[in-house]
Amino acid sequence: MIARAKSKTLPDVADLTKAQAKVEWKRLALEIEGHDRRYYQEDAPNISDAEYDALRGRLKAIEKRFPEFVTAESPTQKVGAAPSGRFKKIRHAVPMLSLDNAFAEEDVRDFVGRIERFLKLTDAKIDLSAEPKIDGLSMSLRYEDGELVTAATRGDGAEGEDVTANIRTLEDVPQKLHGRNVPEICEVRGEVYMTKKAFLALNERQKAAGDTIFANPRNSAAGSLRQKDPAITATRPLGFFAYSWGEMSGMPEETQTGMIHWFERCGFKTNPLTKLCHSVEQLLAFHRKIEEQRAALDYDIDGVVYKVDRIDWQERLGFVSRTPRWAIAHKFPAERAMTVLRDIEIQVGRTGSLTPVGKLEPVGVGGVIVQNVTLHNEDYIRGIGGKGEKLREGRDIRIGDTVVIQRAGDVIPQVVDVVIEKRPKDAKPYHFPKKCPCSLHTDVVREETATGEEGARARCTGEFACPFQKIEHLKLFASRRAFDIDGLGEKQIEFFFEQGWVKEPADIFTLSERNASIKLEEIEGYGETSVRNLFNAIEQRRRIPLERFIYALGMRHVGETTALALARGYGSWDAVHDACMKVAKGDEDAIVEMDALDQIGDTVIRSIAAYFGESHNRGIVERLTGQVDILDAEKPKSNSAIAGKTVVFTGTLERMTRDEAKATAERLGAKVSGSVSKKTDYVVAGPGAGSKLAEAKKHGVTVLTEDEWLKLIGE
Ligand code: IVH
Repeated sequence: MIARAKSKTLPDVADLTKAQAKVEWKRLALEIEGHDRRYYQEDAPNISDAEYDALRGRLKAIEKRFPEFVTAESPTQKVGAAPSGRFKKIRHAVPMLSLDNAFAEEDVRDFVGRIERFLKLTDAKIDLSAEPKIDGLSMSLRYEDGELVTAATRGDGAEGEDVTANIRTLEDVPQKLHGRNVPEICEVRGEVYMTKKAFLALNERQKAAGDTIFANPRNSAAGSLRQKDPAITATRPLGFFAYSWGEMSGMPEETQTGMIHWFERCGFKTNPLTKLCHSVEQLLAFHRKIEEQRAALDYDIDGVVYKVDRIDWQERLGFVSRTPRWAIAHKFPAERAMTVLRDIEIQVGRTGSLTPVGKLEPVGVGGVIVQNVTLHNEDYIRGIGGKGEKLREGRDIRIGDTVVIQRAGDVIPQVVDVVIEKRPKDAKPYHFPKKCPCSLHTDVVREETATGEEGARARCTGEFACPFQKIEHLKLFASRRAFDIDGLGEKQIEFFFEQGWVKEPADIFTLSERNASIKLEEIEGYGETSVRNLFNAIEQRRRIPLERFIYALGMRHVGETTALALARGYGSWDAVHDACMKVAKGDEDAIVEMDALDQIGDTVIRSIAAYFGESHNRGIVERLTGQVDILDAEKPKSNSAIAGKTVVFTGTLERMTRDEAKATAERLGAKVSGSVSKKTDYVVAGPGAGSKLAEAKKHGVTVLTEDEWLKLIGE
């Protein structure tokens, strides 16, 4: 299903009251956290870099006006998200930081001006290196006595994933540094990337094999690197450009460009377009030249990076929270192209929402061929925005129109404009369907918003009877985060559904006994082995953790986090089921009890009530529970020292990540809060703790160091 954030016109930050700003700050922080998780851990971003930068920019503007909002948890204080846990973690000897962004030429001038003022230079000129900003994954390679010992991803900047075995398969990464007299410890940093050509070829192979299709070269590089089996990484053509360093026991050179040449002498590839500039004008000229070359380059870049060349000046300039003062990324505007809209098709998602998808005359945008574009909803096509404002100056989108599409290293491109002068006489205005395109032709209604007004999203009223919705639900059911059934991907689900072999989740578990008449091994593409593997994979999933089971039901608004909260809150399927049935019957006590669970509020409760209020859904659940064995959730230990206590973490934690600390505390029955009050039992403070520590002292709350905390919980 295609889901995208709606563009809204927001009030100026300067016009916000403190209370409004706080609410928005919280919402933005949560939203950014979710995008970070999808980008860094799941390799599946669902917004463009430009949209992401806009969210961050707004958060920063709010924090600039209300500096008291800044906490250690703010996304502005963190880099990326915590590592995904599949690989061993490696703590970076020197943190891996991020870069501040410049979009306009003015930003670049300001950047250089700030440096001049900071260094208080009167006549010495500041040379800066200019390099393309490679859109890949940053990597830290540690060499001891010239030998490669570890390779780690950036992770949250403090700790990354150990991908050494995989990195060793890259041709561009020397196992041993060339040359004599290399410092005892050298951490070489740079970017792992996949060429556009290799990315397109890989996707072809993946498609043929029915495997994951990657959205862009960056994601395919990340996916290739995160393989558990290095033999798979070895088959993926990954490159590496060296451009930076971490811990060094000695510095072989005194400048950034000197280091780049030293990396080359050590056996690394560096970006051939890198240039030393002597003025702002030269930087800007470099930006323009690289932007012109961008589409022709065989790797994705999303801007250029300027760095003060003298390393002693870099050291004097230092860092501001997560970014260096001596470097900046000058981003490119999103890439655009013009093409013809051939048709508009409707996609029906799992929950019945109808999304119009534009079918384009294929067009290359930044090395990627684009054929589909999301048109969001009926209003968007008519030229009306989320708040009733005019889009594209009110121009509607018609079939046959020439449209301007935009892609920004993005999953699904957007239509940003319609070229009216090119509108053919026979261009067809689009009429949004009144009936679902499924075989039932059920009515389509526009959803109500929370305030009871008509919303923009259209929904099929067929609910469980709509075949599209059934297929989408089955896809979710078998997917990696739900039942995770190997060999039962989207294509297979569609095929089994069309054949009538799998109509609902329980059918998956009776497939093997029905195979005597189905004879799957005789179907093209299947053989004895693949059929056996599929049935084995299904058998293995008969035992399923409670939270996965709840998530796999596909109830609206019940994502993984909510499913986990329900599982932890009730402990067993019987208890969850009992509560859901009571909620569906409107039992006040049951509703209050569910509402008290963390992460669960009105929307979720209403959705659960609607789902279990429907007898068809109850039937699906009943038949499914007859086939599987649902494991109880790990219950929070109630006899731990912190059971029932409220804990706040603040400052930098050194022996665990913030997520880990939170998860452990919750597992032991504590509630983790973001702010300190009289009700707080413990504040665990690491270095850099500020206002929360002061609050704790004010309220007389017990303050613990990280070690004291670990001792208290017995770890
Ligand atoms: S320098 C302390 N140089 O951009 C800053 N980064 O937004 C060290 N990147 O995490 C980074 N090309 O993944 C640097 N030529 C380049 C780069 C580059 C791409 C990435 C890198 C970094 C991110 C920062």
